Amino acid sequence: MRISEFGHAEGSFGLGFGLRLPPMCGIVGYVGSQSALDVVMAGLKRLEYRGYDSAGVAVLADGGLAAAKKAGKLINLEKELVDRPLPTGTTGIGHTRWATHGGPTDANAHPHLDNAGRVAVVHNGIIENFAALRAELEERGHALASETDTEVVAHLLAEEFSSCADPAEAMRLVCRRLEGAFTLVAVHADEPDVVVGARRNSPLVVGVGEGEAFLASDVAAFIAHTRSAIELGQDQVVELRRDSVTVTGFDGRPADVRSYHIDWDASAAEKGGYDYFMLKEIAEQPKAVADTLLGRIDDSGSLTLDEVRISAAELREVDKVVIIACGTAFHAGLIAKYAIEHWTRIPCEVELASEFRYRDPILDPRTLVIAISQSGETMDTLMALRHAREQGSKVLAICNTNGSTIPRESDAVLYTHAGPEVAVASTKAFLTQLVACYLVALYLGQVRGTKWGDEIDAVIRDLSQISGEVERVLETMEPVRALARTLASKNTVLFLGRHVGYPVALEGALKLKELAYMHAEGFAAGELKHGPIALIEEDLPVVVVVPSPRGRSVLHDKIVSNIQEIRARGARTIVIAEEGDETVVPYADHLIRIPATPTLLQPLVATVPLQVFACELATARGNEVDQPRNLAKSVTVE
Ligand code: F6R
Repeated sequence: MRISEFGHAEGSFGLGFGLRLPPMCGIVGYVGSQSALDVVMAGLKRLEYRGYDSAGVAVLADGGLAAAKKAGKLINLEKELVDRPLPTGTTGIGHTRWATHGGPTDANAHPHLDNAGRVAVVHNGIIENFAALRAELEERGHALASETDTEVVAHLLAEEFSSCADPAEAMRLVCRRLEGAFTLVAVHADEPDVVVGARRNSPLVVGVGEGEAFLASDVAAFIAHTRSAIELGQDQVVELRRDSVTVTGFDGRPADVRSYHIDWDASAAEKGGYDYFMLKEIAEQPKAVADTLLGRIDDSGSLTLDEVRISAAELREVDKVVIIACGTAFHAGLIAKYAIEHWTRIPCEVELASEFRYRDPILDPRTLVIAISQSGETMDTLMALRHAREQGSKVLAICNTNGSTIPRESDAVLYTHAGPEVAVASTKAFLTQLVACYLVALYLGQVRGTKWGDEIDAVIRDLSQISGEVERVLETMEPVRALARTLASKNTVLFLGRHVGYPVALEGALKLKELAYMHAEGFAAGELKHGPIALIEEDLPVVVVVPSPRGRSVLHDKIVSNIQEIRARGARTIVIAEEGDETVVPYADHLIRIPATPTLLQPLVATVPLQVFACELATARGNEVDQPRNLAKSVTVE
């Protein structure tokens, strides 16, 4: 494909000898008339959420190539560029890296160069046959300077370019020799107005501007410059020039690609006056929830999910639902199970995507698999959905990122409209995943006739109130913040819940672990007596999510007993209970009120105080809220 005018990008990694350091990473590439260094550095800032173990840039200038790279956060690279400025050029690439283990060093940071210093490459993924390629290159006299797998690509590109003098062809020839998952972006000093990229598995998006083009792992990197984007498919190579974008398969044949308009603007990815993206994203939840509901009900009042391209007839045949997801998205799935089974009477299993395909799950064409993912790039979820499709099951993706790999590979997709989520800890994506799951459950109930129209209307009316209720919760969070600050020196916090409150407890514990680096565990309250109650000691903070007394009151009564049991053993009880629930008052050392909601929808309001609690504790402990240690936003390796 060739498009007159305009461009893309993607991420990297580092590998030790015999020691895999799989990367996740953000990649940026630019060709145009602005300072490439400025554009690339600004793009990397937007992508730092993808990894922050090291960063690097390369620009083409004065007939040559200049590069800088530094271990640690982007700020270290910024300082390096002040001390040792690079020449100004209008073509460049950059990289911010995340490694799962191993020590990130300056030498292992990207970009990697060939021996003549004419080629620079950044990479996201793992080149599985790098050891053989490296041995081969060394035999031919190449000297490799790092422990990464990426560096072989720079040397191979240099060799291929020396015979074909075409950067895109050199990239195609090299890609055909690589095994594993990789996305690459490269420049060659002999072609100063060209950036080439290649995509296998990890994301790479082209941004098309006026006389300029961009490549990035995520549109956030170039949204300040253009809203016109092109999505690259699997095994495609792209050549960017100022006024053209050419996409081919690894085999050199012209490729079909999808152009699209990015419908959120740069300010959506800015902090907007908040200290952290996480605070901003927590505050955006009322809008995100409302946006996800928007346009789902047609004029006749019935539910229409246009993006669901699985026919009603097929949905009527479904005899089992399996939800696959990771982390916070998995918790959304656990809650969805209650709604799906209650509203549709279809058995529903929820499985960690990373475990799914290894246990030989029983799947067939009558199984509906729901893959939940904010990023749409989580490798564990992607691999699980591929496995499900190979077994003949239909896959419906619930996803927040337009055009990402998981929705692209699914039979149908329901997008959440949370807007860009930048903080590594997921907040607004979670609430919108819940809304999307409720919608899917209602839709199944509608097409299968297990729920009457008026029953669906009633739930939709309740859901449309939720945005306002979340707003009300947010207005009353100051005591939660004050409480969190008093617990900053604690080592452990436990979370208990029953029914849909149990996954909420798991989510509260996950948020606290990842942000405050504290030992935190979520339990089903009824399970406590089977072992975990031994953990209770004097003044141990225990957060309890109390179900509505108006719903299944037996659940409520039981959890009130659980609160008494732990309090009798010295726990400091932090009770999250509905307004008007007076039975919990005598047993709550701290009481957090949430609005009354229908039982199944309570997670939408009960999770919010736990997000605020974790964020405040992280701040009080001096942790980096948006970029917790060892984590990355998008986990593109298994
Ligand atoms: C936790 C968190 C992670 C993600 C998980 C799945 O706050 O953000 O647990 O939920 O890595 O990511 P997605 O939803 O992008 O597939």
